[in-house]
Amino acid sequence: MATIALPAPDTDGSTSVERAIATRESRRSFTSKPVGLEDVSQILWAAQGTTHTRDGVEMRAAPSAGATYPLVAFLEVSPAGSEDLEPGVYRYEPREHALEVVVETAVHDELTAAALEQAVVNDAPVSLALAADYDRTRRQYPEHGERYVHMEAGHAAENVHLVCTSRGLCSCPVGAFSDTEVNDALSLPDPLESLYLIPVGKPPANA
Ligand SMILES: Cc1cc2nc3c(=O)[nH]c(=O)nc-3n(C[C@H](O)[C@H](O)[C@H](O)COP(=O)(O)O)c2cc1C
Repeated sequence: MATIALPAPDTDGSTSVERAIATRESRRSFTSKPVGLEDVSQILWAAQGTTHTRDGVEMRAAPSAGATYPLVAFLEVSPAGSEDLEPGVYRYEPREHALEVVVETAVHDELTAAALEQAVVNDAPVSLALAADYDRTRRQYPEHGERYVHMEAGHAAENVHLVCTSRGLCSCPVGAFSDTEVNDALSLPDPLESLYLIPVGKPPANA
């Protein structure tokens, strides 16, 4: 599989976390400007990037029950959605902080259809998708594992929304979609299941 190295993440941005919380909102309009590799690096790191090592385990930016790390982040790139990335689907590899090419052709129409034709998905240059391998967490927590995975998706997504806000990017949580159609559009391998879409782009001129 071809991999694309991402620029090192900025771990010390200039916007306070309070400012990002105060100004975050769901933003559904974007310019047609492409999103660059530095922004892609930052949002994927915020979702699932590594931060430090504890007891030999690489810990990630979002907390995980028992450090089971069931989430996998994917990036869908629309035609002309990025100057640096071809349209298609990429899997984020936290350890290498790199993208693995999954689909080398545009799947933007399929993803938009899977998201019930929502304009926010159609208009976004890129969308981050969170998928989960539930069994990683269920094995350790048979009773609460499923709930924990959903809690973790919320943690990862909020990190992304706050980083987008701090970088002047627009993002929107999207949960209204056909699970199976999103799985198919992104070519998710078994046992991954789609959980959350986050279309991301630059603000329109009048915003
Ligand atoms: C789990 C979840 C799913 C959502 N799904 C969608 C969606 O499919 N489409 C959409 O436009 N907004 C979606 N939203 C965004 C909400 O409409 C939005 O968060 C809410 O109106 C509050 O506005 P704010 O995010 O600007 O604070 C979703 C939000 C959450 C938390």
